[in-house]
Amino acid sequence: MPKTLDAKAQGSQWLLRSFLQYPRRIGAIAPASQALITEMLRYVPFAHARVIVEWGPGTGAITASILARKRPETLYLGLDLHEPFIQHLRETYQNVPNTLFLQADFQETPAILHRFHQPRADALISSLPISILPEPEKVFQVAALSTRGLFVQYMYTLALVKGCWPPRWIRRYFGHHQVRLVLRNLPPTLVFHCFLTPETLGVLEGERVLATGLPVIGV
Ligand SMILES: C[S@@+](CC[C@H](N)C(=O)[O-])C[C@H]1O[C@@H](n2cnc3c(N)ncnc32)[C@H](O)[C@@H]1O
Repeated sequence: MPKTLDAKAQGSQWLLRSFLQYPRRIGAIAPASQALITEMLRYVPFAHARVIVEWGPGTGAITASILARKRPETLYLGLDLHEPFIQHLRETYQNVPNTLFLQADFQETPAILHRFHQPRADALISSLPISILPEPEKVFQVAALSTRGLFVQYMYTLALVKGCWPPRWIRRYFGHHQVRLVLRNLPPTLVFHCFLTPETLGVLEGERVLATGLPVIGV
């Protein structure tokens, strides 16, 4: 993407162009608004997080706020399938310490965390286009294996018309959740804040139960 003063407008155009080229992968016509970004990051424990993972950073609208607020020692991992986005984010944030962008599928997260000697992330922030993914439930399943506290996912309200209702999966994998509506976004969007509780931490089959005393948010 060309570097100009109006990087935000460039980012919007670029996302729209990418959407027109790969609609099912990109799944968004406009970057997240400031209202959506604020809502997405409402419960992220920036003050003590050791690891923050972002799924689908895209052109970096939410990423910029995460990186501005994270502590230098917090490890940030951004995973996206779309190679041009990853290249751009690597160039833009090459000077931010402990920040890595990987061209990877979200399902690789547990293995990637393992590679960095991190059993789980403290917060997982997702812009994945869940309503158009072939197996939307997988997102919540992998999230529950990848976070020790918080998982945040947004979804356009338009997806409700298609019958996509994430709480049915959230209840299966997370103990507690909140749904909030953000009207000031194009289009209006629902944000799902999902919290692992001690009861749900490690309930998945074959999952190693983590040591007690880890910070679990929202209980
Ligand atoms: C809605 S866009 C991201 C928008 C961005 N967060 C913003 O607000 O500007 C969704 C992103 O998810 C990525 N994506 C789609 N499927 C993916 C997958 N299976 N694993 C990782 N990233 C994926 C797309 O490449 C795209 O960049």
